[in-house]
Amino acid sequence: MSEHSSIRSADLAASWLSSASVLVTGAGGGIGRAACAAFLACGANVTGFDRDDSWTHRLSPELPGTLRAVHGDVTRPADVAAAVRDAQEANGGLHVVITAAGVQAVGSLEETSEETWRKVLDVNLTGTWLTCKYAVPALRASGGGTILCLASTTALHPRERLGAYCVSKAGVAMLVRVLARETANEGIRVVGVCPTGVDTPLLAQMIEGLRGGQGSEDKNAGLMASKPVQRWLTVEEVADALVWLTSPAATAVTGSNIPIDFASA
Ligand SMILES: NC(=O)c1ccc[n+]([C@@H]2O[C@H](COP(=O)([O-])OP(=O)(O)OC[C@H]3O[C@@H](n4cnc5c(N)ncnc54)[C@H](O)[C@@H]3O)[C@@H](O)[C@H]2O)c1
Repeated sequence: MSEHSSIRSADLAASWLSSASVLVTGAGGGIGRAACAAFLACGANVTGFDRDDSWTHRLSPELPGTLRAVHGDVTRPADVAAAVRDAQEANGGLHVVITAAGVQAVGSLEETSEETWRKVLDVNLTGTWLTCKYAVPALRASGGGTILCLASTTALHPRERLGAYCVSKAGVAMLVRVLARETANEGIRVVGVCPTGVDTPLLAQMIEGLRGGQGSEDKNAGLMASKPVQRWLTVEEVADALVWLTSPAATAVTGSNIPIDFASA
């Protein structure tokens, strides 16, 4: 991750995030870590939750906000509840939740094993639901807030050989729509964020799988052919969209699933 993200998000003069309490799941991954950096750069106090516990050293200690790392699994209700409690108690409430924990799997629906299907649905959909389920009372107790769920363009457009992933993300997109309606009168906004390919380990594994383990000497080929802009998104571009979606300029945005997708929709 470059320092660029800190500069960009701080340039948004995100005063509304100063001292805000932010929980990020999947904080050790590409998008999660960039989100932590962006919110820290805005002066927020961030609780990063991940099943991997070796990621915090990759964030600059010079970012102004405070960072806490909580180890756990989003599919385990007790772990999620503990992470929410930790964020609440350490940082005086909870104001923003980013659900970025996720896994990918490649394979046609016919060839997908039951184990893979259950794992993808469990992490991507049930993990997102559990995070929202435990976060909503904490957000309510803090007077409202914003939940941003990482869905994907695959929630909106089918893609062959990514069936379990597409279905899990489509489930997240509907979860966003239902939860937004259920919490609209409590000052809680819920938005699905749907990026196209973002340059992260998850995308690299997905491309490798789609290429049938043949290597990826030109990873912009094939998948990128349909894109008018011949590159992947950067994690910083996604993080900046997340910061904007928490802003007072976005108070009318809830229950939407927003593509972050150049112009290829
Ligand atoms: N990279 C992309 O192209 C892309 C595009 C659209 C949406 N997304 C979504 O954005 C999110 C983040 O993706 P990324 O590219 O940063 O992936 P990544 O693989 O870099 O990071 C995912 C993180 O989630 C964590 N994680 C996985 N299972 C977990 C579990 N059970 N409990 C706790 N943590 C767990 C991993 O340890 C990892 O740190 C995912 O939901 C992904 O589906 C990614």
